[in-house]
Amino acid sequence: MTPFQARLTSIKTLAGARQPFDTQAVPDTPQALFSDWFDAAVEAKANEPQVMTLSTIDDDGTPDARSVVLLNMDEQGWHFAANATSPKGRQLTQRPNAAITFYWPATAQQVRIRGTVQRLSEDACRADFMSRPERSRASILIGRQSEVLESADDLRHALHEQLARVAAQPDLVSPHWGMYALSPREVEFWQSDAERRFTRLRYRRAGATWERSLLWP
Ligand SMILES: Cc1cc2nc3c(=O)[nH]c(=O)nc-3n(C[C@H](O)[C@H](O)[C@H](O)COP(=O)(O)O)c2cc1C
Repeated sequence: MTPFQARLTSIKTLAGARQPFDTQAVPDTPQALFSDWFDAAVEAKANEPQVMTLSTIDDDGTPDARSVVLLNMDEQGWHFAANATSPKGRQLTQRPNAAITFYWPATAQQVRIRGTVQRLSEDACRADFMSRPERSRASILIGRQSEVLESADDLRHALHEQLARVAAQPDLVSPHWGMYALSPREVEFWQSDAERRFTRLRYRRAGATWERSLLWP
C-alpha cells in the first residue's frame, strides 16, 4: 500500500448521521422528498448542501461535470445559473440531457437527478443577473469562461473595464447569462445503512405522476 492509499483508507466514508428512511411513507413527488432531505442535511449542519455536481455531454459525447449552486427547486425542476457561452452553456444548448448529483456527508445521503435542461424566461435570467453584486456582474460580462488565460494582468484589465461599464450603466444585463432548470425524468434517493443494505428509491416520471421503485444496492 502506498502512503497515499494508506491515507485514503484511514479516512472514513459514509460517516454521517444516518437518517430514518421509510420508503413506504414517502411523498408522491421527488421534489417533496428532496425538500425533506435537504432540510435534514441543513439540520445536520451539512457544509454547503446547495452545491451540486452538474454533468453534461460535450460535442464528442464525452461527459463533463462541475459544481454549481442550486438556486431553486419547483415543478420546473432544479434551477441553476450559468453563462450560455461557457462550455457547459454550449453543451446544454447542443445536448440538453444532463444529470445532477448531490452528496451530503452529514446525513450519508445521495440524490441523483437525470433529465432535460431548459433555459428559463428572459425575465428570470435578467432578474438573477441583476440580483448579483457588481463584481459578479462584471465578471459575467467578461465572459470567456474556461478559455485559456494568458496572464493575470489580462483578467485584471478585463475586470476593471467591465466594472466601469457596470458603474456607468447600472441596468446593463448580459444577454448570455442564463437561468436553467433541469426537469427530472428520474430521481434516485440513496441512503446509507450500517449493514450495507443501502436503501435506494427511484422516482420515474409516468405521464403526470411518478412511479416509485426500490433498487438493488
Ligand atoms: C462550490 C462551487 C460553486 C460553483 N457554482 C457555480 C454556478 O452556480 N454557476 C457557474 O456557472 N459556475 C459555478 N462554479 C464554477 C464551475 O464549477 C466551473 O468551474 C465553471 O462554471 C466553468 O465550467 P465549464 O467550463 O464546464 O462551463 C462553481 C464552483 C464551485 C467550486
